[in-house]
Formats: sequence, structure tokens, C-alpha cells
Amino acid sequence: MGPGEYLTARFRTASAHYRGDVDVGELYAAQAARWRAADPLLPAPEPPAPDPVLVPGGAGWTTRNDVDPEGMSASWTGLRNHGLSALVAGPDPAAALGALLDRWEPRLGPPDDDESTAEVVWPSRDTTPLLALARHGFAPAVVLAAGPTGRAAPAPATDVVIRPARGADVGVVARFGLEIVRYDGRFGALGERPSTLPRLVEGYAAALARPIESVWLAERDGRPVGMCSVDPPGYADEARGLCAAPTVGYLGSMYVDPAARGGGIASVLHAVADGALAAAGAGVTLLHHAVPNPVSTPFWYRHGYRPLWTHWQRRPALRAPARR
Ligand SMILES: CC(C)(COP(=O)(O)OP(=O)(O)OC[C@H]1O[C@@H](n2cnc3c(N)ncnc32)[C@H](O)[C@@H]1OP(=O)(O)O)[C@@H](O)C(=O)NCCC(=O)NCCS
Repeated sequence: MGPGEYLTARFRTASAHYRGDVDVGELYAAQAARWRAADPLLPAPEPPAPDPVLVPGGAGWTTRNDVDPEGMSASWTGLRNHGLSALVAGPDPAAALGALLDRWEPRLGPPDDDESTAEVVWPSRDTTPLLALARHGFAPAVVLAAGPTGRAAPAPATDVVIRPARGADVGVVARFGLEIVRYDGRFGALGERPSTLPRLVEGYAAALARPIESVWLAERDGRPVGMCSVDPPGYADEARGLCAAPTVGYLGSMYVDPAARGGGIASVLHAVADGALAAAGAGVTLLHHAVPNPVSTPFWYRHGYRPLWTHWQRRPALRAPARR
């Protein structure tokens, strides 16, 4: 029995709410083909897990993840996160995704919990089902963008000096990291918590202890005015599965002091980081950015990045109906 037959046998089934036949193996094959056609950098969809929620043209799997407020992830998300992954195909993938979102709704309470997030992470270029997310009140909050490594435009001439950060710089590097969280916090997906600065200090201390350069400071007259950090291929395990390229690097942070912006400092930092990632063997660089960020979004797209995955979010996960 081939994998396709296995899936068909296992999931040719009717759920408690939907009594028609849904062939999950066929859904998987159709979605995988659509993703391949939409974007060569996409990996194949996750293979179907048991016990899907079934609707006409769709199968979905839900998760709930409680986040430790003391952990680093608590700065990137709400504390009670609901996730939906799905296979949708057929004549109307948006209708199938919409039906799955409707089925998900009762699981997202209690209503008005500001620490709850409902999130669907979908390939940015597989646009056929997206209308369902927009119509269900989800917004594109964060994008994982991808760009070819080693092709940064030559760094513009500036009066700043770029140097690798050292262990003793961890305080200033983490402060810059905190300013990124504070600024991106204005757009709703991430936000500062009491644990943010201590976790950033730990994370950057680990990056500074690597045997390979991963963090750089931009200095003007000996004073730090900017910072960029990366995870070279050997340290970018989390990013690797999100992209079909054999070797990926991850650009984790970029910051320039507000008084020094608009003079090319981030462009110089990017050129250095890009060269280092290319030297470490990366073929593609991935990075996250908040979609509404009016300075980082244009910066990244001008520097050759483009969206790969979009995080569609609703926070709170569920709103109580308005009282009349
Ligand atoms: C995003 C960010 C790092 C960009 O830093 P920056 O140093 O201002 O970036 P650059 O100067 O290289 O490029 C930005 C602008 O300066 C222009 N510029 C670039 N080189 C220049 C030069 N030599 N002289 C004058 N202007 C220049 C660019 O064309 C661009 O202008 P535009 O936006 O009007 O088109 C900075 O705005 C920042 O720290 N933002 C807050 C934190 C953040 O969002 N981080 C990214 C998280 S993903």
C-alpha cells in the first residue's frame, strides 16, 4: 500500500458534524501540488495527523498551547494560543477553510481573554483560501520573509564602524533587542513582559558565545547606534523546516537608534550579516517582521526579501457578542 492509499483508507470517513466523504489523501495531494506551484521555496504540507475535523473540501487539526510567561516565547505571543492547520482543496478552498474556522470557533473561548490568540500560519503565495481568514476577522500580523543570501547591495558609505559584538556588549545588544520588541509591540502581535529583558540577555549571551560571528554593532564616534544578529545555518534549526532550501540562515534582529535612522546604517549592517551568512553556507535567509511595521517592512522588501509564510491572527481569539 503506497502512502496515498494509506491516507485514503485511514481518513475516508465521516465526522460527527459532516456526513459526506472526505478523502484526506486527495486533499493532501491537491494542496501539496498547489503549494509547489505557488512557491518553490515552500516545503510540502505537514502529513495528515489522525482525527481531523472534516468539512466539505477540507480537513483541519487544532492545537492549544499554553505559554510560560517567563519564557522567551511569551514576548512573541499571547499566553494562550490556539492554532489551526488545514488541508483545503476542491472548487472553493476558501469555503472549506471558512467551514473549518466556523467549527473551530466554539473551542476558542472564554471570550474577551486578551491573552488568547487564534493563529493560522499559511503560505503567503497560496492565496486561494485567504478570503476566509479576512472574513472571519483574522489579520496578517507577522510575515516570515525569505531572500537569497549573499546578494546584498554593496554597503553605502557611512560614518559608522561595524564590528562584531563581544560578550561584554550583551547589555547594549539586549537593550536594542528590547527596543525592537517595544516598537513592534505597537502592532499587536508581540509585546514586552517582565521576562523580556532577562530572556533577551540570555539569548544574546548564548549567541555571543558562539565560535562563529553572529552579532554586530554599528558605532558612531565609539557610541553604539545599531545592531544586527543572525543564526547561521548550524544554529537555525527552527527556521530550516519552514523553507525548502537546503541551507537556511535566520536574521533574528535589526535595530538602529531613532536619531540615526535613514542614513544607511541598517543597510550596512545587513550587508555584513548577509556576507557572514553566505560565508557560513546559507542559500536563503529567513526573517520575521511585523506586517504593519512602516519602517522594517519597506526596508526588507527593498533589500530583496519577500513573504513566504503569513501569520494570520485574531486576538483575543474570541470576542463576546456586543451587548445591545
Ligand atoms: C528598520 C530599521 C532597522 C532601518 O534602519 P535605517 O538605518 O533607518 O535603514 P536605512 O537607512 O539603511 O534605510 C532606511 C531609509 O534610509 C534610506 N537610505 C539608505 N541609505 C541611505 C544613505 N546612505 N543616505 C540617506 N538615506 C539612505 C533608505 O533609502 C531608506 O529610505 P526610505 O525609507 O525613505 O526609502 C530602523 O528603522 C529601526 O530600527 N526600526 C525599529 C526597529 C525595527 O523595526 N526593526 C526591524 C525588526 S524586523
